[in-house]
Parts: sequence; structure tokens; C-alpha cells
Amino acid sequence: MNSFLRCVAAVLALCAAAPALAQGAEEKDNIAGPYVPTPWVIVDEMLKLAGIRGEDVVYDLGSGDGRLVITAAKRFGARGVGVELQTELVELARIGAKHEGVADRVKFVQGDLFETDIKDASVVMLYLLPRFVTRLVPRLRAELRPGTRIVSHDYPLAPWPPDRELSMDVAEKEMISGTSWTRLYYYVVPARVQGVWELTLPRALADAPLVVQITQEPHATGGLIHHGNAELFLRDLTVRGEGVRFGLLYRSRLIAFEGTVNGKTMTGEARAGSVREPWTARYLGPLQR
Ligand SMILES: C[S@@+](CC[C@H](N)C(=O)[O-])C[C@H]1O[C@@H](n2cnc3c(N)ncnc32)[C@H](O)[C@@H]1O
Repeated sequence: MNSFLRCVAAVLALCAAAPALAQGAEEKDNIAGPYVPTPWVIVDEMLKLAGIRGEDVVYDLGSGDGRLVITAAKRFGARGVGVELQTELVELARIGAKHEGVADRVKFVQGDLFETDIKDASVVMLYLLPRFVTRLVPRLRAELRPGTRIVSHDYPLAPWPPDRELSMDVAEKEMISGTSWTRLYYYVVPARVQGVWELTLPRALADAPLVVQITQEPHATGGLIHHGNAELFLRDLTVRGEGVRFGLLYRSRLIAFEGTVNGKTMTGEARAGSVREPWTARYLGPLQR
């Protein structure tokens, strides 16, 4: 056995038990999972599902031996950051990065993933216990840039419905989770659209701007317009990354909107029959509850 493999074996033996031994950690309730490395075949599938590109910055929250980040750098030329509580695993990941020739592209930080700044990520990888991935949902949706991709191994980010799911049988998982059945969940962080917006339609479709109240929760997004005595609902309002689309039945015409959210403005094209015109929306402020 060469010195690298000896070091790996010693560290793994120590780390599998380490979370249970961490003094005082229980009170903090931040041990989001024991050290269980993602099998290599699943590493490949997670990177593929995330569609890693050279310009990506891949974060693994609870990075273990750093295999996801190191492989993303080695195979796709991405940059990456691993955040890991256990010092020995951080050290192991740094050795691994050097060994694989990607130490200049990746960084391993010893720290608590719940307290780490994640806003530079363009991809986030997770393999944590269910209640901890759920705990991360508000932060992921609030802090990550729209369009950031997330892949979670085995546990969904409930109540956020995934954009894609993938299942596969991996014999190695039998020893880890008692079943070979493995599921991967893929999410794209939506632009933040909750609040009051002024929607301006082309003259051909409306003569005055409309005020829209948008509510955005992980499981549903909705929009409401008070128009005279009537309430008009945005139909099938969908936000995916920076893209937005919805329908509106206005003065007996069904108008289909497609566009892009850019911070406090939205712009796009509205279609109604043969009419195709630009539309805009301007953020007015938070919802009044
Ligand atoms: C199931 S392992 C996954 C390792 C790696 N992501 C992989 O897929 O191979 C979970 C890792 O998260 C780490 N971890 C648990 N809670 C953490 C926290 N609050 N901050 C940083 N790392 C944490 C554990 O030490 C462990 O190495």
C-alpha cells in the first residue's frame, strides 16, 4: 500500500465514527450526516445531472473526501469548494486534490455548512440526511443566484418539487441504506419574484398598467391582480432560473407571457392571437400582509 492509500484508510476509519463522537455537537444540532462517501458511479451521475461546465463553481456542502469537487475539476475543468466539519476529511480532500492535479482549482474549508457563505456557487451538491436538506431550503432559495443548479443524493429538498429526478440501482448502496435503489433530485434556483409588481402591457392589449401581487413559496408560486371589482389570477405562473412565464385572461383575451427576471425588472414578449408585443414589469415593494 502506498503512503497515499495508507493515509486514506486511516482517515476513513476515524471519520465514519467521528460525528457521533463530536463533543457538544448534539446541542448545536448541526451534524447533517455521518461520513458516507457517494459511490463513484453515482458521483458520475450527479455531475452529469448537474451539467457541469468549465465555468462552474461547484460547492459540496459536507464534502467528505472531496470526491465530487475533485472530479468536477479534473473532468470538466470546473472550480470548486468543499465545506466539511471533520478536519481529517478536509486534510484528506486537500491531499486528494494535489494527487489529482487540481489543487489550484479547488478549495476545502473546514467549517459548518450551515454557516458558510454559498453565494458564489453555480452548482451545489448535497448528500445529507433528510431533515437537514429540508432545513437548507430557505437559504438555498434566498442566497443562491437564480439559475444555480442543485443535486441532492437520495433526499429531496421538500417541500420544493424537483425540476428533474433520476433513479438507479447501485449494488454498493445496499450496505449504506439497506437498498440498492438510489434517487437523485435536481433543482434550478428560481429568481425571487415575491412582492408587488407593476405590469405594463402593450397598448394593443391594455391601456393602463396592472398591479400584480406575487406570492412565491417552494411548492407554489401565484399571482393576483385586483382589477375593478374583479380578481384576476396569473395562470400557471412558472419561474425557472431567470425565466418567467404565465397566462392572463384579460378583457376576454388570453395573453401568454414569457420573459426574464432581472432583479427588480421583468421584460419579455406577450402573445395574444396574432399580436406579439413586448411587456415589462417593475418591482414596487414587498407584499402587505
Ligand atoms: C454523507 S457524507 C457525504 C460526503 C460527500 N459529500 C460525498 O457525497 O461523498 C456527509 C458529510 O457531511 C459532513 N457534515 C455533516 N454535517 C456537517 C456540517 N454541519 N458542516 C459541514 N460538514 C458536515 C460529514 O462529516 C460528512 O463528511
